[in-house]
Amino acid sequence: MKFQVVLSALLACSSAVVASPIENLFKYRAVKASHSKNINSTLPAWNGSNSSNVTYANGTNSTTNTTTAESSQLQIIVTGGQVPITNSSLTHTNYTRLFNSSSALNITELYNVARVVNETIQDKSSAGAVVVANAKSLEAVSFFFSIIFDTEKPIVVTEDSAYAIPVANNKNATKRGVLSVTSDKLVYSGVFTPPTACSYGAGLPVAIVDDQDEVKWFFDASKPTLISSDSIIRKEYSNFTTPYGLLENGVPIVPIVYDGGYSSSLIDSLSSAVQGLVVVSSGSTNSTSSTIESTEIPVVYAQANTPLNFIDNKDVPKNAVGAGYLSPIKAQILLSIAAVNGVTSKSALESIFP
Ligand SMILES: *[C@@H]1O[C@H](CO)[C@@H](O)[C@H](O)[C@H]1NC(C)=O
Ligand SMILES: *[C@@H]1O[C@H](CO)[C@@H](O)[C@H](O)[C@H]1NC(C)=O
Ligand SMILES: *[C@@H]1O[C@H](CO)[C@@H](O)[C@H](O)[C@H]1NC(C)=O
Ligand SMILES: *[C@@H]1O[C@H](CO)[C@@H](O)[C@H](O)[C@H]1NC(C)=O
Ligand SMILES: *[C@@H]1O[C@H](CO)[C@@H](O)[C@H](O)[C@H]1NC(C)=O
Ligand SMILES: *[C@@H]1O[C@H](CO)[C@@H](O)[C@H](O)[C@H]1NC(C)=O
Ligand SMILES: *[C@@H]1O[C@H](CO)[C@@H](O)[C@H](O)[C@H]1NC(C)=O
Ligand SMILES: *[C@@H]1O[C@H](CO)[C@@H](O)[C@H](O)[C@H]1NC(C)=O
Ligand SMILES: *[C@@H]1O[C@H](CO)[C@@H](O)[C@H](O)[C@H]1NC(C)=O
Ligand SMILES: *[C@@H]1O[C@H](CO)[C@@H](O)[C@H](O)[C@H]1NC(C)=O
Ligand SMILES: *[C@@H]1O[C@H](CO)[C@@H](O)[C@H](O)[C@H]1NC(C)=O
Ligand SMILES: *[C@@H]1O[C@H](CO)[C@@H](O)[C@H](O)[C@H]1NC(C)=O
Repeated sequence: MKFQVVLSALLACSSAVVASPIENLFKYRAVKASHSKNINSTLPAWNGSNSSNVTYANGTNSTTNTTTAESSQLQIIVTGGQVPITNSSLTHTNYTRLFNSSSALNITELYNVARVVNETIQDKSSAGAVVVANAKSLEAVSFFFSIIFDTEKPIVVTEDSAYAIPVANNKNATKRGVLSVTSDKLVYSGVFTPPTACSYGAGLPVAIVDDQDEVKWFFDASKPTLISSDSIIRKEYSNFTTPYGLLENGVPIVPIVYDGGYSSSLIDSLSSAVQGLVVVSSGSTNSTSSTIESTEIPVVYAQANTPLNFIDNKDVPKNAVGAGYLSPIKAQILLSIAAVNGVTSKSALESIFP
C-alpha cells in the first residue's frame, strides 16, 4: 500500500514539468523582438529611477515612512492562492492584492512581484512579507526570491496565508533565507521547495506548523549553501539581487525542453530565438551523448524523474552545464536571472549552478 502511494507520487512528479519538444519553440522566434525590453504587464514596470515614490498596482501610493516605526507590521502580498475571507483575527497584517493568477507566473511577473515585496521589506515598519501564490508558482516564486533577496527579514511564500503568518511572525524564521510553506503545513527553505505537485520526498523541510499554529523548527537557523554569504552567487554576483539588468538585457526567454535526438542545425537555429535552454535529462543519469548543446546560448541539463538527483558537468554534453541538484524549474529560474544580468559563459554558469 505504502509503496503504491510513493510510486504514484513519483509519477506525479515526473509529469509535473511543463516541458515541450523543440519544434514548439519556433513560435518564440516571431515574438522575441517584442518581448525584448518590454516588461509591461498588469503592474507598472521598473522605470529606471530609484524613486521611492511609486504607485502600487491597485492605484494607492506607496509612502515610505522614514521615521523609525515599530517593526511590527506584516505585509501580505497576494498573487493568487488562498487568503482568508475575513482578516479580523489577524492583527498587524496588511493585504495587498496584485493579481489573482491561476497559471504559473513568468519571469516578468516574478520581477514585478519582487519589486513590490522589495518596497515592503525596505519599509522600516514592516516585520517581513508573506507572498501568497498559486500552487503552480510556489516552487518558482520561492526559488526566485531566494536568489534575488538577501535580507534578514523573513519572506515567506505560500499557497495559503493562514499557514504562513505564524511562520513569518516566528522570531526564529530570520536568517534562513526565503521560506515556503506548502498546504501540508511543512516549511521549506525556498531553495529546496518541492517541485510543483510533488509534495513529499522532493524538498527539504526545515519546520512543521502544528495544529496550534506553533512552528516546530527541525534545525537551527542557517542559509542554504547556494545563497550563504560565502557563496559564489552572493560574493561575485551581487547584481543578481538587483533588477537593473532587466533594463540592459530585457526579459529572457528560457524554455524547458525534453531531451531527444535533434539535429544540430535545429539547435543552432533555435539560438537566435531564445536566451537559454533547460533540457530535461532523459531518465538515465548520463546525457553525455545527447545532441542538445550549443556554443551560442547556455544549455543546462536538469532531471525531473526523481525527487532529488545530481547532474554533474561530466554527465552532460561538452558545451552544456549540469544543473546539479536543481529541478528543471529551478534551473530555468537561475538561468533566467543569469541571463538578465548578462551572465552567459559556460565557466560562469558552472560556478553558479550547484
Ligand atoms: C509597454 O510600455 C511602453 C512604454 O511605456 C509602451 O510604449 C508600449 O505600448 C507598451 N506595450 C504594451 C503591449 O502595452
Ligand atoms: C539605482 O541605485 C543602484 C544602487 O544604488 C544603482 O546601481 C543604479 O544604477 C541606480 N539606477 C538608476 C537608474 O539610477
Ligand atoms: C511623487 O510623485 C508625484 C507625482 O509624480 C510628485 O508630484 C511628488 O512630488 C512626488 N513626491 C516625492 C516625494 O518625490
Ligand atoms: C498619489 O499621490 C499623488 C501625488 O502626491 C496624488 O496626486 C494622488 O492623489 C495620490 N493617489 C492616491 C490614491 O492617494
Ligand atoms: C509616519 O510615522 C509617524 C510616526 O509613527 C506617523 O505619525 C505618520 O503619520 C507616518 N506618516 C505616514 C505618511 O504614514
Ligand atoms: C498597509 O500598508 C500601507 C502601505 O505601507 C499603509 O499605507 C496602510 O496604512 C497599511 N494599512 C493598514 C491597515 O495598516
Ligand atoms: C491598495 O493597497 C494598499 C497598500 O497595500 C492597501 O492598504 C489598500 O487597502 C489597497 N486598496 C484596495 C482597494 O485594495
Ligand atoms: C508574462 O505574462 C504576462 C501576462 O500575465 C504577459 O503579458 C507577458 O508577455 C509574459 N512575459 C513573458 C516573458 O512571457
Ligand atoms: C528560537 O530559538 C531559541 C534558541 O535558539 C529558542 O530558545 C526559542 O524557544 C525559539 N523560539 C521559538 C519561537 O521557536
Ligand atoms: C531592493 O531595494 C534596494 C534598495 O532600494 C535595492 O538596492 C535592491 O536592488 C532592490 N532589490 C530588488 C530585487 O529589487
Ligand atoms: C557518462 O558517459 C561518459 C562517456 O561515455 C563517461 O566518460 C562518464 O564517466 C559517464 N558518467 C557517468 C556518471 O557515468
Ligand atoms: C553582473 O555581475 C557579473 C559578475 O561581476 C558581471 O559579469 C555582469 O556583467 C554583471 N551584469 C550587469 C548587467 O552589470
